[in-house]
This record gives sequence, structure tokens and C-alpha cells, in this order.
Amino acid sequence: MEERLQKILSRAGITSRRGAEELITAGRVAVNGRVVTELGTKADPGRDSITLDGKKIAHAVSGVYLLLYKPAGYMTTLKDPEGRPLVTDLLKDVRGRVYPVGRLDYNTEGLLLLTNDGDWANALAHPRHEVDKGYHVRIRGRVTEEQLRKLAAGVQLDDGMTAPAAVSLVRESESNTWLSITIHEGRYRQVRRMCEAVGLSVVRLKRVSYAFLTLEGLRSGEYRTLSRDEVERLSRGGSAEKPSKSVPDTRDERRARGTTARPVAGKATVKYGDKRITEKVRDRKAQDMVIGRKKSDTSPERPAKGRRKPRA
Ligand code: URA
Repeated sequence: MEERLQKILSRAGITSRRGAEELITAGRVAVNGRVVTELGTKADPGRDSITLDGKKIAHAVSGVYLLLYKPAGYMTTLKDPEGRPLVTDLLKDVRGRVYPVGRLDYNTEGLLLLTNDGDWANALAHPRHEVDKGYHVRIRGRVTEEQLRKLAAGVQLDDGMTAPAAVSLVRESESNTWLSITIHEGRYRQVRRMCEAVGLSVVRLKRVSYAFLTLEGLRSGEYRTLSRDEVERLSRGGSAEKPSKSVPDTRDERRARGTTARPVAGKATVKYGDKRITEKVRDRKAQDMVIGRKKSDTSPERPAKGRRKPRA
């Protein structure tokens, strides 16, 4: 993939982005034997020979973008003073130094992105970049409709109210209840804290989706490289197509981006069977929520299709 030279140089650990610009304008960098002084010149580190002062840049790695199925019991930090296993311990044959995009708790499993591309990671972590993140949650004991309704409408945490979430009850047994919760925020331990706030005890938490990405095809501890299309689509907030600024955000476009969240203030609808309750939401995003119970559901991994319906 072609990238700006200063990005390639800084990622190779040679200097900062600013330092790389100085090296380029000083005429010390060449691509395929030709000195490049123009900032913004692009090269493909996988294809082109890039040199600094005539010496080949040994670690001119191209962008690495990975989707890992994180097992529980791994840290998403790059070091752990307590010596616990790190997610990067699971990566074999990965060129360059990659780090996680956002965090999953030590005991949370599921979908985690990793990259060596700081710009991309920062863009995804930015609060403006609100993609849907889907979780399967095993709760100790039973969950009441009131608790589901509260989770969906937004709960008060010590760092403020949570935005409306899509919540559905997937399965319940004598001792446990499995919920599907989709949020678009990414606050610290958000799902666990939301559950605690309504009196629920989380036994197991797994992130099953991130925008349009899922864990399909991966077993716990495995990872795959994202396709270029997936990387670019995530940069656009999950949209399959580049959005046109002149066209208003329609429900179909939001669905294509992997979200039904509306970027306007409004109301959230929570549905229990035939009962429909409309709630005012405090967040600028009003999100459709359907809470349903279907005793026939057996798999917490696969919420029944059509459970979460977009508002008409
Ligand atoms: N919410 C949590 O509580 N923990 C995670 O790891 C991710 C979301």
C-alpha cells in the first residue's frame, strides 16, 4: 500500500514524523535510487526501495492491521508490571511493533484490532468515530425487563450518562442470563459498569463485533490481517461507500456503516413483545432498541435474526 514517506520513515523507528520531513527536505531520502525532496511523496514499502543517506531502511514495514480474537486472561497493554500475558504474545510472524486499538479488560474476550499505524488507531479511537461495538454478556441470575429497559435507555455512571444502547435478551437458564448489548461509546469498562449500575453481575463478557467486523472464522487466540478494503472502510467509520457531503444521512447509509444510530437528538424506542415505549434520550444519538425474550433461543453466540429492528 502506498503511504507518505514521512509516515514510512517514522513508523520504521528512524525519527518522528516531523524529523522525517526534515530528512526529506534535506535531500537525504531516496526512493528507487531517486532523491525525493517533496513532502507528501508516496511510496510502497513493500515494493519500493527506500534509502536514507544511501542506506536501505531495513524495517520499512508497511501498515499492519490485524483482527485478533482475544482470549480472557490477556492484557491489552504492551507491558504488565505483574507479568501477566499480553495480547502481543499471541502474534507470530508479525513485522514491526503493533499495539491494540482501544482496550479490552484482562477478563474480557473477543474482537480486538491491532495496528502499527498510529494515525489510523487515533482516528478510530477519536470520540467522533463512533462505531457500534457488539457484546455478548453472561449475567449471574435473572434479568428483569426494567433492568433491560434501563440499560437500553442509558444509565448514570460516575463519568456521566451512557448513550442509548441496543439491548436484547438472548437466552436464560435457571442460573444465568445471556444478553446482547451494542454500544457506540468506548468508555472504560463500560459494559461491566452499565450492568453493575442496574444491579447485574457479569460472569463473562465477549466483544463479538466492531462496526461491520465479526469474529467469524477465528478461534480464541487466532488473528487475521484486515483487507485493505476493511481498513479503508473502518477509516470511514464503517461505511461501505464514501459518504457524499451533499446527501443527508439516511437510514440505509447508517445501516451500511454498521449502525442504525441517528446523529440527532431524539427519542429511543424500547419494545417488549407488543408493548412499545418511547423514551426521551439525553444523547445526541437516538438509537433504536428492541428488547425481546424468546425462550427458544439457545445460543448466546447467535442472537436471533431480526431481534434488533431499526425504527421505521
Ligand atoms: N466494556 C467492558 O466493561 N469491558 C471491556 O473490555 C469492553 C467493554
